[in-house]
Amino acid sequence: MTGAGPLPTPEGRPTGAPAPRYGPPRATIDRDRSKSWLRRAMPIVAAHRWTFATALALSFAGLVIQVQVPQLLNRAISDSIVRHAVPLSHYGWWVVGLGAAAGLTGFLSRLFLFRTAYAMEYDLRNVVYEHLTTLSFPFYDRVQAGQLISRANSDIRSVHLYLTFAPMILVQSAIAVVAFGYMLSINVLLALVAMVTMPFVYVIGRKMRASMFPVSWLIQARLAEVATVVDENVNGVRVVKAFAAEENQLRSLASAARRVQWATVKDADLRSQWAPAIQNLPQVGLVLVLLFGGYLVIQGHLGVGAILAFNAYLLMMQAPFTMLGMLIMMGQRAAASAGRIYELLDEEPTVVDRPGAVVLTGCRGDITFDDVRFAYGDGSGPAVLDGFCLHLDPGETVALVGATGSGKSTVARLLTRFYDVTGGAVRVDGTDVRDLTLASLRANVGVVLDEPFLFSASIAENIAYGDPGASRERIVAAAVAAGADEFVRALPAGYDTVVGERGYTLSGGQRQRVAIARTLVVNPPILVLDDATSAIDVQVELQIHDALRELMVGRTTLVIAHRLSTISLADRVVLLDGGRVVADGTHAELLATTPRYAEVLAQAEEHEAALAATATATAGATPSEVRP
Ligand SMILES: Nc1ncnc2c1ncn2[C@@H]1O[C@H](COP(=O)(O)OP(=O)(O)OP(=O)(O)O)[C@@H](O)[C@H]1O
Ligand SMILES: [Mg+2]
Repeated sequence: MTGAGPLPTPEGRPTGAPAPRYGPPRATIDRDRSKSWLRRAMPIVAAHRWTFATALALSFAGLVIQVQVPQLLNRAISDSIVRHAVPLSHYGWWVVGLGAAAGLTGFLSRLFLFRTAYAMEYDLRNVVYEHLTTLSFPFYDRVQAGQLISRANSDIRSVHLYLTFAPMILVQSAIAVVAFGYMLSINVLLALVAMVTMPFVYVIGRKMRASMFPVSWLIQARLAEVATVVDENVNGVRVVKAFAAEENQLRSLASAARRVQWATVKDADLRSQWAPAIQNLPQVGLVLVLLFGGYLVIQGHLGVGAILAFNAYLLMMQAPFTMLGMLIMMGQRAAASAGRIYELLDEEPTVVDRPGAVVLTGCRGDITFDDVRFAYGDGSGPAVLDGFCLHLDPGETVALVGATGSGKSTVARLLTRFYDVTGGAVRVDGTDVRDLTLASLRANVGVVLDEPFLFSASIAENIAYGDPGASRERIVAAAVAAGADEFVRALPAGYDTVVGERGYTLSGGQRQRVAIARTLVVNPPILVLDDATSAIDVQVELQIHDALRELMVGRTTLVIAHRLSTISLADRVVLLDGGRVVADGTHAELLATTPRYAEVLAQAEEHEAALAATATATAGATPSEVRP
């Protein structure tokens, strides 16, 4: 792969890239933060209104059918049992028919309801994930992966469940109104007596909501803590084991788990205080019906069948009340979860395309850092770069050398606009990178990061990550240029070998070579190698130098390096110290004129020797076999 293949188009890489396989979410949340969480979620509910409305209508129809049964019972008792006017089987058949109809509507309404629920879950999840992909690096520096995972899972779950089940429960509660209507039609006074307890249910419900909300919030937040600990333990398992720190990690997990336990027990405690009251108040109504209704029957004002029907209606009303308690709890949890999800969705990306940003086309590779100042965070902290000036001519290869922590990687991150400069400007072909579209800038600048991250996919897929349509020939050519071909072929399934999570089934040097190949496939006119060969053997590195040299022809390349061998690839070396370039020239010139340069190189050499020593010592902690 010697500069072969077309340059990527500025808009990204449409060459053979497969169309997205996911249907984008049908709606997103309302951006207006002043609205309540439910109103903000309405666009998502509205997107599924038809299936949802069908589910609700069917559920209501089912209830209307059910509500007929006590009425039939009342009539069966008075017409068939008391007066023998109609055969009892007549009513029997009616009850069977109504039961079958209620069963059918129940089945259909559930079908539609669950469809709606999972469609909303799909939308919410994609809305959150789409938003995450737009967020900038400063956000990812701050946030913990476990928090994101739990927001994308348990929080979304509690929100979508509430969004679908709350209206369903409300519809079912509407049956209470219908049942009450029937009760009124039988006997007004008795109906009012039966409902005496309702205001209490309302008051208790309000109190319950108020006391449960903070606990619900706590539960969701603490679940996220557990997710964070688990995430770190799993991802950091090599460090944990290398330090034999399992015991410590278990302790931190146990304490997070205990905090969840405390909150959930508190939640159950509150629930058990309130829920029985709400659920059993209607029973008090039942007693009153029996007492007062019984009196009316004895006085001859009311038939026995009527008491039976009343009884059945009150039981029917109990179900919604039981669910009402549940609804309140679900609502509290959903409100807390929605708050956490919105917090994420309200996070604005900081590095975005300016209005009127231009597409970088026909990139020559002329790079200028003009008096750049940069500080991490909100820009008020200590400056990592201050007065940093550097110019790279098209096609030039420059080595950036500096002590560890001097800001070399930061320079690379500013060129690709992972972060925006705090002062000054970075220009590509004379245009401020902030005036270019992000997609076109990043398509033209290929970076090999100092920590190569591979996905748990095949090696071929990893190499073709930037251009999923790349042919096998191009993939292999890139691997050859990066010195990866030989070891890849020796793997059990060659290029189709699946690497473990983050590529941990490969050695550090192998990962780096795959990462280099991944960037080469994209064939960018500007190349940044950030310590890209630090874990590769000096011998192997020398082998791939020829290929790398060939690659650098016609490309502007910035190599961040410690090793003399890597530095020798460059036309020019610059020394970064104290946030600015303090020396600029050939390696020999810098050695002769700048004592600090020799110092930094010596430090790097020591550092590398120390690294090599620890690598040998902890080799046992890294799985060396590769699963096919
Ligand atoms: N994401 C970040 N948020 C806050 N500070 C950071 C971040 N990344 C780096 N820093 C700080 O910025 C300084 C420069 O870091 P940088 O990674 O650019 O150094 P480097 O020269 O690449 O070092 P090395 O040779 O060890 O890779 C360091 O002091 C570091 O602590
Ligand atoms: Mg670095």
